[in-house]
Amino acid sequence: MCGIIAYIGNKKASNLLLDGLKKLEYRGYDSAGLAVHDGQKINTIKASGRIINLADKLSKNPLKGNMGIAHTRWATHGQANIKNAHPHSDCSGQIWLVHNGIIENYQKLKQFLVKKGHFFSSQTDTEIIAHLIEEFYNENLLTAVRKALSLIKGTYGLVVIHSLEPKRLIAARMGSPLLLGVGAKEVFVCSDAAAILPFTRDVIYLEDGEIAEIYNNKINIFNANYRKIKKEPETIKWDINEAEKDGFKHFMEKEIFEQPKSIANTLRGRINTKEYKANLGGFIEIKNELSQLKYLVLIGCGTAHCAARIGEYMIEELACLPTRAEYASEFRYRANVLLKNTAVLAISQSGETADTLAAIRQAKEKGLLTLGVVNVVGSTIAREVNAGIYTHSGPEIAVASTKAFTSQLIALALIALFLGEKKLSIKQRRLIVKELESMPQKIKETLKISRQVKKIAKKYCKYKNFAFLGRKFNCPIAQEGAIKLKEVSYIHAEGFPSGEMKHGPIAMIDKNFPSIFIMPQTSVYDKDLSNAEEIKARGGKVIAIASRSDRRTRKVADDVVYIPKTLEFLTPILSVVPLQLLAYYIAIYKKRNVDKPRNLAKSVTVE
Ligand code: M6R
Repeated sequence: MCGIIAYIGNKKASNLLLDGLKKLEYRGYDSAGLAVHDGQKINTIKASGRIINLADKLSKNPLKGNMGIAHTRWATHGQANIKNAHPHSDCSGQIWLVHNGIIENYQKLKQFLVKKGHFFSSQTDTEIIAHLIEEFYNENLLTAVRKALSLIKGTYGLVVIHSLEPKRLIAARMGSPLLLGVGAKEVFVCSDAAAILPFTRDVIYLEDGEIAEIYNNKINIFNANYRKIKKEPETIKWDINEAEKDGFKHFMEKEIFEQPKSIANTLRGRINTKEYKANLGGFIEIKNELSQLKYLVLIGCGTAHCAARIGEYMIEELACLPTRAEYASEFRYRANVLLKNTAVLAISQSGETADTLAAIRQAKEKGLLTLGVVNVVGSTIAREVNAGIYTHSGPEIAVASTKAFTSQLIALALIALFLGEKKLSIKQRRLIVKELESMPQKIKETLKISRQVKKIAKKYCKYKNFAFLGRKFNCPIAQEGAIKLKEVSYIHAEGFPSGEMKHGPIAMIDKNFPSIFIMPQTSVYDKDLSNAEEIKARGGKVIAIASRSDRRTRKVADDVVYIPKTLEFLTPILSVVPLQLLAYYIAIYKKRNVDKPRNLAKSVTVE
């Protein structure tokens, strides 16, 4: 949540900071601001709302200087207005900082600071950090920051500058991602590498508790015990073009259409077509522990939680391993009963979601094996789990998760095959491997229905409520279809197991409440068809996602979208595509801000 970028070097800082902020805007867009040191003093500009408002102000009032900090905000404490926009300052106006995260004991610290005579200009928790640093400042910013942070409970990714120290920039991390981009005679600090990729690929990831001091082109890093440590930069391999729109109108559209490529990347090198096995390099070293597993808990949030729910079905079916999917935010309330020989597998696009990270840390405290299916290389979850696999779907910029989700499903299918290797016959494995290989092509074929889905979107975009219904592997897809529609179009939608409708929700159905049935031809098709009939009988409209070979659905549904046939456990990878397109086109017809829906942020780094 929120985006940070800072710069120190010999170029004009404000332009670089603004460019970086534009790349980070998906992390929050309630307000934005920057502070630049001109050699004598620090000048700031802030604006509420989008970065474009900040750019406009900056063009009228350019800021000179080669060192600065900038922030784009997703509000937690204090309203989304200009007063609460970062950077924040102390009473003297000499110390300026940007912060991601939440200071949990800020009320107590604020009382203490108010008693000492500090006055506050914002309602944010962040501002107390500036005043604490002021309290401890004695001509050494590094020491003052360290002392201030020792009093803070909560999470932070933090960058601080002082007007009396024009060549020093301090960065600190606790629970909120922060990395240093190392260029020639310049250093960037940011919360997401996408912001600095045009300038450097060499990065140093800060760990929790670490503080970095960038002074006179030198980087000094200290660990949580304040010991100086040596960290070498690593090189980022992914390409910045992957984070551009590539001719599409929106990132969401681009990312939907990119799925043949992104799932091919997830599969690359991971299927053994001779022995019909999954090659999961990340799991090789723990193969023994995995073979002794008695129970697996899959955790994630939002769309990643839908992936976990499908993974639950996949792993139980292919590997016969008892598996449970859990909201990461609920994991802690049920963690006490977990016995050893349980593994906890986190699914996360960003690898930074606070709820998921907290659950993984708790599982580790309990001595459980922790695993990850993560997209962002080098992210916190990826680094903290015992073992895992990357989805390699490339940077996902739109707030609505699409390609990351289908890659998560492919990764889970591979894990199910890996864990089920001994239980499945060679014939079954051959079939699975062949079908996995064909998935990029099948997604490509599925995408051909985009025009038809656009027409359906036009027909239904004025409806105010939607039900999404599915069974077994496609039950979580109903939940995912509803999430997609809600978040980009702001239309009320609910996902239910088809069989649950008659136990209550069907009471809502009338001609103004359409139902979207995800009913490819699987072992539960007949039941789905009966449930669709039940809706029809009550005057409800039915839109169906069905298999190409299906002739019966057409007789019940008002509109049918056909997708290619595949193995039952892989159907969600195809059936979700029309739902992504439907949400996208409805949002377009409703003129929503598709890539940056209101009230949301791409990476949710608060609990
Ligand atoms: O980065 P993560 O996969 O951990 O994010 C989890 C959720 O916040 C995310 O999937 C969210 O639900 C999406 N915006 C849904 O499209």
